[in-house]
Amino acid sequence: MRFTQFAVPLKLLLASMTIPAGVANATMTDAGKKAMQAAGEIMFEQRCRSCHADDPALKAYGPSLIGVLGRKAGSLEGYEYSDAMKNSGIVWNENTLRAWMADNDGFMPGTRMRHVGISDRAEQDFLLTYLKALSSK
Ligand code: HEC
Repeated sequence: MRFTQFAVPLKLLLASMTIPAGVANATMTDAGKKAMQAAGEIMFEQRCRSCHADDPALKAYGPSLIGVLGRKAGSLEGYEYSDAMKNSGIVWNENTLRAWMADNDGFMPGTRMRHVGISDRAEQDFLLTYLKALSSK
């Protein structure tokens, strides 16, 4: 895992979790899920929020990620996507989101989203938990 500016909170969260990161599954306690979501919110803050709002009332450079899980890529009404995104035929689920986070412009050449490379499985888990929570907002 790459520890950058948010090294301390992430380390604390990890230390407080009874189940190793990377296994966010049905056996995880509510406290564990809350910790994952909090870690994901920190990641979102650092890596995504400059372009993606998590408030439906805000306009941002990137499309809103509220409700992104289960959504067809490039399908948000009123947002000008690249042709690559519009024609990708992708649906955003856990697997496609992991591939996208790890190497978005390798996964979808021609996208207008600048390169994001989050290949660490635990960091992806944190973000996915947060994006899931956003989807039920
Ligand atoms: C530099 C700005 C920028 C950053 C930082 C950024 N994005 Fe994006 N994102 C965009 C743009 C622009 C698009 C639309 C791309 C297109 O149309 O090709 C996009 C599209 C997306 C989509 C597709 C949404 C849809 O409606 O189909 C997802 C999912 C996504 N971004 C997730 C993320 C996540 C998660 C992060 C943080 C890890 C992130 N992005 C960071 C600019 C950004």
